[in-house]
Amino acid sequence: MTPTSTSRRMILDCDPGHDDAIAMLLALAQPVWTVEGISIVAGNTTLDNAVRAAGQVLTVAGQTHVPVRGGMAQPLVRPLRTAPNVHGETGLDGPVLPEPAVAPVDEHSVDWMLRLLGEARDAGETVEVAATGPLTNVAAVLRRDPTLAHAIERLVVMGGAINEGNTTPAAEFNVLVDPEAASIVFDADTEIVMVGLDVTHSAIFPGARFDELRALNTPVGTMAADLLDFFLRFHRQQYGLDGVPIHDACAVAALLRPEILQTRHLRVDVETASTFCDGRTVVDLWGVTGREPNVHVGTSIDVDAFTDLMMESLASY
Ligand code: BDR
Ligand code: CA
Repeated sequence: MTPTSTSRRMILDCDPGHDDAIAMLLALAQPVWTVEGISIVAGNTTLDNAVRAAGQVLTVAGQTHVPVRGGMAQPLVRPLRTAPNVHGETGLDGPVLPEPAVAPVDEHSVDWMLRLLGEARDAGETVEVAATGPLTNVAAVLRRDPTLAHAIERLVVMGGAINEGNTTPAAEFNVLVDPEAASIVFDADTEIVMVGLDVTHSAIFPGARFDELRALNTPVGTMAADLLDFFLRFHRQQYGLDGVPIHDACAVAALLRPEILQTRHLRVDVETASTFCDGRTVVDLWGVTGREPNVHVGTSIDVDAFTDLMMESLASY
């Protein structure tokens, strides 16, 4: 069954993370979506920190009815690499946040997704998925039961890049943390959309607009402005930017409104064993491998549409 505009169901799998937090707020603000739950993976920070951070964001946003579940605490085969240089030790350094008002659900998020997607598949239904952290949880689900891919309407991944890296010269953070997982997910039998750094680095949200969020004078507006202020420090220092790429929000926006993302259907393979290119998404732009395309690779995004959607969504709280 193809979901109607009023019955779209979605899962957000994430590792909050400043941009994951904004992505959560964006997803939860959409009346056309029922967010079935927030699934947490270790990445930007430890699993425990990320679960806590998600609970804090939901508490500020008054969305504590949305269930949070913790998933994989480590990548499939490697030790965890986190990003305290970007997100601080807690994953959400910067804003002063309250204690989470509700505890996470006592169920592993991989078990939950197996259950939810299994029920959807058996009922002939589909669920949309945005994955904005390392792909460990999603890969664990698909490894256990590859047919669950048929219950995924579309999977939009924030990760990888055609032409650049942000953690090594060759690799983007989410894919580098768990390249084996990315490799499994990119071969899943459903529509996979990759929103990589080429896209997100073109959609810089200007620092000059952070005050518009603060001027909302709401808990969410203030939290978003504080989150972006902290995120800006890294981007100013590393790239000399006066704004931030809100990577993960781009992926959620592209899931919500596919028309804002331009894509090409291409073969993408993930490097899992290389001294210099580990974690690289190798995108076959010219079809030289002769292999079937497996990923709809984002090439550009309608920056104005994305920014408007974000501002409207954050203002709706
Ligand atoms: C990705 O890495 C993380 O630090 C961000 O949350 C985003 O998902 C960008 O490379
Ligand atoms: Ca993330």
